[in-house]
Amino acid sequence: MLLTGPTGTGKTYQAFGALRHVAQGGPRRRFELITINSADMYGRLRPSQTMGSAEAELRRLSTVQFLLLDDLGTSKVSEWTEEITYRLFNYRYNHCLPTVITSNLPARNDNGPDLTDFVGARVASRLAEMVTELVPVIGGDLRRGQGAA
Ligand SMILES: Nc1ncnc2c1ncn2[C@@H]1O[C@H](COP(=O)(O)OP(=O)(O)OP(=O)(O)O)[C@@H](O)[C@H]1O
Ligand SMILES: [Mg+2]
Repeated sequence: MLLTGPTGTGKTYQAFGALRHVAQGGPRRRFELITINSADMYGRLRPSQTMGSAEAELRRLSTVQFLLLDDLGTSKVSEWTEEITYRLFNYRYNHCLPTVITSNLPARNDNGPDLTDFVGARVASRLAEMVTELVPVIGGDLRRGQGAA
């Protein structure tokens, strides 16, 4: 699921709501979820002095049953962010692991920045297949008391 829309419209709130619904939705032996802000994720995955810790973290995020990746597209794009994003999504795509993404960037925008620019063409292609629910979240900034548009 991909939720896109401007700041403060309730994307993160709705993403948690969807996952709560899944967690409560019937008999399930386990429900394992990691929620991470994408800027924090890239921060944690920077090569560190502790050998292998970034690799272990990438493996944890790649293999967890449900992943909520919040605010994808806020970091500066580099070859390194593209590679990390590719490795994460390629694993989850290959293993059909459910992923919920929120982003301020639209999925496609011919006249400005979009999520494809951020993730790169190969991840965008995988996302096109992975995203079965594209949810545009519209309205004002709820943090500023602006209601629905
Ligand atoms: N349906 C709702 N009912 C009540 N409060 C809500 C609802 N949706 C969002 N909020 C509140 O509005 C604020 C903004 O919501 P949220 O953080 O989900 O926005 P966002 O779209 O993820 O913003 P950003 O793009 O900045 O990450 C939060 O304080 C949240 O608790
Ligand atoms: Mg948010």
